[in-house]
Amino acid sequence: MSHHECCCGCNDNREAVRENAKAALTPEIVAFIEECAADAHPESQLIRVLHRVQEHYGHLGREQMDAVAQLLQVPASKVTGVATFYHFFRLEPRGKFMISVCLGTACYVKGAERVADRLQEELGIHFGETTKDGLFSLNATRCVGTCGLAPVVVVEDKVYGDMTPDQVPALLEKYTKKA
Ligand code: FES
Repeated sequence: MSHHECCCGCNDNREAVRENAKAALTPEIVAFIEECAADAHPESQLIRVLHRVQEHYGHLGREQMDAVAQLLQVPASKVTGVATFYHFFRLEPRGKFMISVCLGTACYVKGAERVADRLQEELGIHFGETTKDGLFSLNATRCVGTCGLAPVVVVEDKVYGDMTPDQVPALLEKYTKKA
């Protein structure tokens, strides 16, 4: 009996699972993962791989994460653990507008947290999430380099300085109208 004809079909099955995993990703990403899988410690390549996947898809979907686990031969629970631990990974599709609240020191001491709370309240989401209508995603970020304007909120590439919680509704309305 050849290696591929095991009586229980486990090898065929493994092959099928691998093919499915490959189909969930682009050939370039599959090639990249296969390179990483050849590393003596594939787990150490996990963050690099997830970055690459997110760069392409904009977020890490369940299907893509499972495919990474298969191809890198890392437990799926490990992949999920890493993806949820680091704030730069997104598990949901990104909204039309990305709102980033600077929580760097200068912004923090000038009340960024209150602005962040109001944003979460108005949008009905937490950091790392996207509104149901797909319009807004909310993110916390480190210093964006405009501390003189603290506290700062960035929507897409536009910086809004001296933000107060009371300015939040008008800011959101402006972008809702744009959509
Ligand atoms: S700390 Fe917010 S811009 Fe520097």
